[in-house]
Amino acid sequence: MKFGYDFLNELKMRNDIESVISSYVNLKRRGSNLIGSCPFHNEKTPSFTIWPDKGSYYCFGCGAGGDVITFMMQIERLDYVEAVKVLAERVGMQLPVDGEEDKLSKLKSRIYDANRAAAKFYYERLISPEGKEALSYLTGRGLQPKTIKQFGLGYAPDEWDALVKHLKSLGFTDYELKQANLVSETKKGSLIDRYRNRVMFPVIDLRGNFIAFSGRKLREDDYGGKYINTSDTPVYKKSANMFALNFAKNHCAERVILVEGNMDVISLHQAGFNMAVAALGTAFTADQARLLARYSDEVIVTMDADSAGAKSTDKVLKILAEAGVKARILRLPDCKDPDDYIKKYGATRFKALLDGAVSDIEYKLHVASEGIDMTLSDGKIEYLKKAVAILATLHDDISKELYAGKLSELCGVSKETILSATEKEAARQRKVTVKKELNDIVKVTPSRDAVNPEKALYPRAVAAEEHLISILISHPDLYEDIKDEISADGFVTEFSKKLFEVVLETLSEKKSFELSVLGSDFSPKEIGYVSMLQNTMQTGNDPKRVATESIEVIKQEKKAKNSKNLSEMTTDEWAERMKSLADGKINKG
Ligand code: UTP
Ligand code: MN
Repeated sequence: MKFGYDFLNELKMRNDIESVISSYVNLKRRGSNLIGSCPFHNEKTPSFTIWPDKGSYYCFGCGAGGDVITFMMQIERLDYVEAVKVLAERVGMQLPVDGEEDKLSKLKSRIYDANRAAAKFYYERLISPEGKEALSYLTGRGLQPKTIKQFGLGYAPDEWDALVKHLKSLGFTDYELKQANLVSETKKGSLIDRYRNRVMFPVIDLRGNFIAFSGRKLREDDYGGKYINTSDTPVYKKSANMFALNFAKNHCAERVILVEGNMDVISLHQAGFNMAVAALGTAFTADQARLLARYSDEVIVTMDADSAGAKSTDKVLKILAEAGVKARILRLPDCKDPDDYIKKYGATRFKALLDGAVSDIEYKLHVASEGIDMTLSDGKIEYLKKAVAILATLHDDISKELYAGKLSELCGVSKETILSATEKEAARQRKVTVKKELNDIVKVTPSRDAVNPEKALYPRAVAAEEHLISILISHPDLYEDIKDEISADGFVTEFSKKLFEVVLETLSEKKSFELSVLGSDFSPKEIGYVSMLQNTMQTGNDPKRVATESIEVIKQEKKAKNSKNLSEMTTDEWAERMKSLADGKINKG
């Protein structure tokens, strides 16, 4: 769908950027700008900046940026058309009726439809005679019919192409079925069902769309892994969704229970713990941590009680800590996972465990003590060393006091000794971190200009290109003058060239340039870069003159580049150029 200039203008006027972003980010006024903590990466000092009068934002930390439409695209993971729809709905605007629907969003809506039809098909097969074994598998694991229905569980029949036939009879094409990842292709090129003889768990997103499936095999010796999951598709990114968050989102404000398996989630919901979710057959990611943080104050980590579960607990805790999310750990005594626990001991005891879930530190102290014989002095020393390293990561003195006291009682060493050892260890850890951060800065610096990697080689050209482009964006009345003086092919670097082309093309059709035009062809980082140019580039009070000078510089640089392609330079010539760059000779020009 293509939207007209007037429609988009009104959409943006009515969805002012401050009110849209403030429902996701806590904003503070700073001069005429607003700042807050970036929702797209983890940061301690806010570097996410909004220019309300220009209707744009930019994060100086991660480089994300754009206008109100690109913000919706990035934060809700929508495509351009979907973002426009959401914003129109928000302010009660009618969408323009005619116009051809954008290809990608059309495909997405076909995939949603195909998935929904597949879920219905699987559910109907489950309650038909054919699904008898699968149904008794589920009821045998304690699920009630009501629960099976709520989660839309199903059965993929033991046939090669039952679903393929069904969906094709409904008018879905091979292409759509492949894009939905509902089918596999045989060597001969025909389509067969991806899920056969499996119990099916649909994955539903926060807006109620069916986005993926997880299929568990019924018998040990069936084909494939224990679970088969949908790979990433145009409507599904595994690492950024959580199983059952659609059900949990309204019940988890205070705390969300994070478990490993689908079956654990469903069991917990059935027992009344409707704030449980699971990662979808992948390791827990930072995206998922941020997603949970948007709905919940605290994550109760409840992994399986085996060594794999302990390992993933450590990883999950680290990711949550880095995302600044509060976490506690629930350990399950003598059973393998939450599903097992609920069955053995019931909901009331699980609730008691939940209320007593231990803090991160208590959990780590507990893990550190495992396998150590505390009746021996050697054991106590070994444990204290580990414990002190854990206490050293604490930032508040009260907690340090408290745990040092507990350790002192446990091991018979004075609290003061434990506290001073903790301080020493903390100082050592700080040194290590500083060193690591310095290393990281050195590593990060070159990729700072990932958007225009040629900037390092042609700084003078890029400065001129950026000036010219930002003048064109902020003074569209200069369009006629500028386009006669230079074409995109006259640009030195590829990124500037691509950007200049789009700006020129837009201005040939419209009165002004909008960041959202970059929507589908530019990455969020690239759009952010342009937003930053637009907002921070000083073009003085004689833009026409600056434009002329910039064009002049670009032409000189282009000539220099052509006369000697860098790849053709000898090592000496190249070193010479790098040296003049460093001395600022070429730069000042
Ligand atoms: P589990 O093996 O603990 O499965 O894997 P489970 O859900 O508890 O299943 P039951 O109780 O044995 O029936 C935990 C999660 O890891 C993913 C699934 O999301 C599963 O729910 N997983 C596991 C896979 O994606 N593929 C596999 O082959 C195994
Ligand atoms: Mn399990």
